[in-house]
Formats: sequence, structure tokens, C-alpha cells
Amino acid sequence: MRIDVVTIFPEYLEPLNVSLVGKARARGQLGVRVHDLRDWTYDRHNTVDDTPYGGGPGMVMKTGPWGDALDDVLAGGYEAGAHGPALVVPTPSGRPFTQELAVELSERPWLVFAPARYEGIDRRVMDEYATRMPVYEVSIGDYVLAGGEAAVLVVTEAVARLLPGVLGNAESHRDDSFAPGAMADLLEGPVYTKPPVWRGREIPDVLVSGHHGKIARWRRDEAFRRTAANRPDLIERCDPAGFDKKDREILSMLGWSPEPGGRFWRRPELMEE
Ligand code: ADE
Repeated sequence: MRIDVVTIFPEYLEPLNVSLVGKARARGQLGVRVHDLRDWTYDRHNTVDDTPYGGGPGMVMKTGPWGDALDDVLAGGYEAGAHGPALVVPTPSGRPFTQELAVELSERPWLVFAPARYEGIDRRVMDEYATRMPVYEVSIGDYVLAGGEAAVLVVTEAVARLLPGVLGNAESHRDDSFAPGAMADLLEGPVYTKPPVWRGREIPDVLVSGHHGKIARWRRDEAFRRTAANRPDLIERCDPAGFDKKDREILSMLGWSPEPGGRFWRRPELMEE
């Protein structure tokens, strides 16, 4: 996969040299190029922003530098043999970035990121490139960052670990929270490693029982506990056809009951403050 990032803070993307993404780059599984948007400004002050039409606070990033930068970056990529670009624009008003979207992006050969500072990029830039390629406007959560660079790091890491051969063990993302498959829609429960006793705290006996069926059941119960506590919305969304008898038992213990339609809701008398 090829990744281009156009930013006014190239140094913000330094973490792409480290850890999983850094190693994927070193192994040639991922090619990352970071470009300074100000290389496409032609005035003394390297201006990239201006006041918003219609008034209001803050500044808007200008069409000129973005258009010239993206044209050159795209031309450079095509010349180097890349194909099938998609433009990724981080913004708090984008669609939520989920594991599903990470999988979709990981299947594309070339991602071009356009992280904005200030109040965002002039709308016409996204409209222009949307005539030539898919444009993904994505939000990494319901909070406002000072700019999209941190979101580029988040999206790149989530995507890179899905690329073939990047994770050591091909199975490593099968049980991820949010991964499609067996534990879909539940959060992962707690994990333990040696030593067996630390500061008087022991590990759950079942994990050293050698009984794979019991271990799998215990993990699923813990996944239900954690999901009920931290993300009750995920349980409400679950298709109950995927629940077995033991799932229903643990849900009932945790205060959830099936509605006539089959979906599970938490009994109100058991809700915490
Ligand atoms: N830029 C500022 N806030 C953001 C967010 N929550 N997600 C993506 N990009 C952003």
C-alpha cells in the first residue's frame, strides 16, 4: 500500500517511523510519503488559510495550495506506478472511523491523507477530487482535535496492521474487539501473563485448567461483562440469534432481558446511577 500525507506539520507524522507502521515501511509492505503543504504556497508568508465567507470565527484552508499539492502528489504517485487513490480527509464532521472502515481502507492500494488545521478545508477541494476518486471524510471520535494529523496516525495504524504480513501471527486480529467473526460486537475481556501471583493477586484458575471449552466460555462471559459495563449500546445492537443458552444466562445475571422482538435491554431497576 502507498500512503501520501499532505500537512502543514510534517514533523507531527514522525511516529509513522516507529513500531508497527515503521517496521511495515522498512519491510516494504507500506510506502509512506509526507509532504509539506507550504511547498505549494507562493507568497512571502506561505499562506494556507483565509477568513471564512459568510463570516464567523476561525480560518478556512484555501483551495489553491491544496489543489496544487494534491495534483502534484497524485501525479507523482501515478508516475511511480501507483493506482486507485482514495482521498482521506479527517474531520470531526466526517463519518465515524470504525474497524469496518479500517478494513475497507486496507483493501485500497493508495491512500492520500489531507489533514486540516483551523476550521477545515474549503469545501470545493473535496468536491473537486470526489469527481476523480472516492473521498472519505472520517471522524475518529466525538471530540474536536486541533487538527487532523493525530487522526492520520490513528487511521494509518488501524489500517497498516490489517495489511497482509504486517502482524507476525496471521490470527492476531481474529479476536480483536470489533473484528468481524466469532466475538463480533463484543469487547475483549481481560488478559493475563506470568507470573501467576503478583502482589498477592492471582489469575483466574480456569486459564490454567487446560480445558479449552471452559476457557472459551470464561472469555465470552468476561467479554459480556466488559461490554455491558462499557458499551451497553453494543449489546442492544446485537442480533440475539447469535446468543447461545450460556450467553442468555450471563446476560440475565448482568441484568439484561430479551424484549418481545428478541433484542436485549437492561432491566431498568438494575441500571447504575
Ligand atoms: N479533526 C479535528 N477533530 C477530529 C476528529 N475528531 N476526527 C478526525 N479529524 C479531526
